[in-house]
Amino acid sequence: MRKKIVAGNWKMNKTLEKGVSFSDDLKQRINASDSEAIVVLGVPYIHLDRMAHLSNDLYSVSAQDCSTKESGAFTGDISSSMIASTGAQYVILGHSERRAYHRENNADLATKVDRCLLDALTVIYCCGEQLEEREANTHFEVIKSQLSEALFHLTAEQMSSVVIAYEPVWAIGTGVTASSDQAQEMHAYIRSLFEEKYGKAISDDVSILYGGSCKPSNAEELFLKEDVDGGLIGGASLNPSDFIQIIDAI
Ligand code: 13P
Repeated sequence: MRKKIVAGNWKMNKTLEKGVSFSDDLKQRINASDSEAIVVLGVPYIHLDRMAHLSNDLYSVSAQDCSTKESGAFTGDISSSMIASTGAQYVILGHSERRAYHRENNADLATKVDRCLLDALTVIYCCGEQLEEREANTHFEVIKSQLSEALFHLTAEQMSSVVIAYEPVWAIGTGVTASSDQAQEMHAYIRSLFEEKYGKAISDDVSILYGGSCKPSNAEELFLKEDVDGGLIGGASLNPSDFIQIIDAI
């Protein structure tokens, strides 16, 4: 069954103390909400253990990246098994900020995906085109290579532990959201790629989230689209009141 998911991505924001107080606030709001969406919080590594234990199963915790390596002399890196040991259940991989600032490519991401699945983590795999790519009308090709090169070596069974987040780079943190029609068009295309590769049952089941300036005022319109199964929320996930409105919008 395709799941409805609202995932926050805090990026490099909040001290541990602020994260804990956000968690207390969010739990009360989720308790008072009748939304059935799965709520995930993508937090900095230092928050994972504490927040996974504070969550009371009202939300799940996600890392924002992991190493391509299993263990060893890689100063500053964090492996998927270390993430899993905190109680976190998800890992965001392939975010455009990691691709841009850390030069992550689809081959690195294929390795990271494998590592996370071995540790029974669910991957939120991000894809998205740059503005110039959309203007040059190459956005479908870009998304196709981001998906096929990092994910299409997986078995159908492994795909059930992968969630896709379509995040057009030009919409991230800019206040410019993709229109709900643009989001639907790309989500339907992504689903068609899964159908071609894995068949209809898998493509029907894969959850595809939209990310990029999603906020309380536009979430409902985006979520009403047939192939939009939720959101990956940056700025608006930093504030419990905005975040719960997006959770309720679904
Ligand atoms: P904004 O919601 O701040 O545009 O960020 C989206 C994002 O990058 C989530 O991963």
